Amino acid sequence: MDDAYLDKIREFVSQRSRLSFSGRKRELLRHRLEKRLEKLGLADLAAYWDYLKQTSGEEARLLDCLTTNETFFFRNQDQFSHLRNVIIPGIETLRGMDVVRSWGASSRVPPSSIMKLRILSAGCSTGEEPYSIAMTLLESLRYPKAWNLEIIAGDLNESCLKTAAEGYYEKEKLKNIPEHYLDKYMQQETDGAVIREEVKKMVSIIHLNLDGLMKGGPFPGYVSLSEPFDIIFCRNVMIYFSASCQQKLVDTLHRLLVPGGYLFTGDAEPLHLFDHTFETIKCARCLIYKKTEMTNYVEAL
Ligand SMILES: C[S@@+](CC[C@H](N)C(=O)[O-])C[C@H]1O[C@@H](n2cnc3c(N)ncnc32)[C@H](O)[C@@H]1O
Repeated sequence: MDDAYLDKIREFVSQRSRLSFSGRKRELLRHRLEKRLEKLGLADLAAYWDYLKQTSGEEARLLDCLTTNETFFFRNQDQFSHLRNVIIPGIETLRGMDVVRSWGASSRVPPSSIMKLRILSAGCSTGEEPYSIAMTLLESLRYPKAWNLEIIAGDLNESCLKTAAEGYYEKEKLKNIPEHYLDKYMQQETDGAVIREEVKKMVSIIHLNLDGLMKGGPFPGYVSLSEPFDIIFCRNVMIYFSASCQQKLVDTLHRLLVPGGYLFTGDAEPLHLFDHTFETIKCARCLIYKKTEMTNYVEAL
């Protein structure tokens, strides 16, 4: 009886979030649900199924219980080094040339729309990833003030988003942050540190369910999908999806990038397992992919 309800909930979760609890992960789902039942004082999964259907807000609480949110500052140092030393300086040079070119153009493109950089951190958890990106941009750009920088950080988990928006991290969480970044970009407090306002305001924290994007739905909130991203970090998220959903996610991330845009995936998420037209950035020695300029041309035909 309980097994039938376990499968109903598993199917519900997969449809709403793409999170997959098949195979051995089924027992992990049971374990996490048991904790939720205990908290709510419910007898069994049948009672929980009714509660889930009848209680507004329970779907979000359920997804909060089921996501794995492990993250840390500057996770995968090689990716951040390549971003800082190669990708950002490269973009800065190209955009600088575009600005100069625009001076000679008959219809003048305002520099503010050329010197724009949009980055998505999809599955940002408690915010360490988007704030690491923000600090990297500030360190790497020669003239950060000349840029219109927008980092959109989204996650399914509401309580993670609250932590991300607060931007306060206990001492234990700060150990990967280079010492001089700590002084520059964080305000020390007794048991930890808080992200400084100038870094916080570069990051827009939003509720994001990748399921909606994968169905081709609009981007949540104010962010317009008509403007694609220059760089997307989607790391350690797709490993929690089924193989077919992973393929769909790869296609979606491809669609959301500008031609020539970059995709950063997690260590256990190499794209060779999927059909795709991304180019692998081999010299990075870590998982970074580039949307080729050609593919968008082909897509447009
Ligand atoms: C393991 S954390 C990874 C955090 C960060 N990207 C990193 O690599 O350190 C995975 C995050 O993906 C989020 N997530 C899972 N499914 C999602 C979905 N359908 N839409 C948006 N976020 C999702 C989880 O809530 C969780 O915070």
